[in-house]
Amino acid sequence: MVAGSAAGLRFTLDLPSRTEPRHFKVRPVAEGEGGATDELISHAPGVTRHRPPATSTAATTLRLGAFDDLRVLRALLDLHLGAPSADCAFVELFVVEPRYRNAGLGTAMFTELARRLKDAGARRIQLEVDHDNPNAARFWKRLGFAETGTGARLQLEKRL
Ligand SMILES: CC(C)(COP(=O)(O)OP(=O)(O)OC[C@H]1O[C@@H](n2cnc3c(N)ncnc32)[C@H](O)[C@@H]1OP(=O)(O)O)[C@@H](O)C(=O)NCCC(=O)NCCS
Repeated sequence: MVAGSAAGLRFTLDLPSRTEPRHFKVRPVAEGEGGATDELISHAPGVTRHRPPATSTAATTLRLGAFDDLRVLRALLDLHLGAPSADCAFVELFVVEPRYRNAGLGTAMFTELARRLKDAGARRIQLEVDHDNPNAARFWKRLGFAETGTGARLQLEKRL
C-alpha cells in the first residue's frame, strides 16, 4: 500500500525560520535534475547513504527534493516505499544544503513526509546512522526515532 503512495508526497513548506527564502516546495525530483542533486551532494561531503537491509519485491524508490522560491534544490531525501516490509518506509539519504541547516527545514520536511506516509498506510519508518554522526542521531531521536539495534551502524525506527 505504501509503495503506491508516491503521488501524494508533494507539498509546500512555509518556515518560520531565520533563513530566506522561507517557502519550499517538496516534490519528487525529475530524472533530468541529476545535475542539481550532484551539486547539492557535492556541497555536503561525508554524507553517506544506507540501503534497507532487505527489500520486498513490491518496494519502490523515490527521490524527494525541497526547492526554494528560485527553484533551487536545498534538500534531498531518498526514500524506499514498502521496504524492508510492506508497511514500512526506509530513508536511504537525507541531506540539507549546509547553509540551510539548523533552521528547521529538515524537521519540517521530515515531519510532513511522515504524516503523509502514515496517511498512505505506513506504520514504521526506518533508517541507519553512522556511529561517527552523532548530530544526525540526535536529529532523528528528537523526531521520535528509537534505537532498534546497533552493529556497523545505529539502526533507528519511528512508529507512526
Ligand atoms: C541531519 C540534517 C538532515 C538535519 O537537517 P536540518 O535542516 O539542519 O534540521 P533542523 O534545522 O530541522 O534541525 C537541526 C537542529 O537545528 C535546531 N533548529 C531547528 N530550527 C531552528 C531554528 N529556527 N533556530 C535554531 N535552531 C533550530 C533543531 O532543534 C535541531 O537541533 P538538534 O540537531 O539538536 O536536534 C542536516 O544536518 C544534514 O544534512 N546533515 C548532513 C547529512 C546527514 O548527516 N544526514 C543524516 C544521515 S542519517
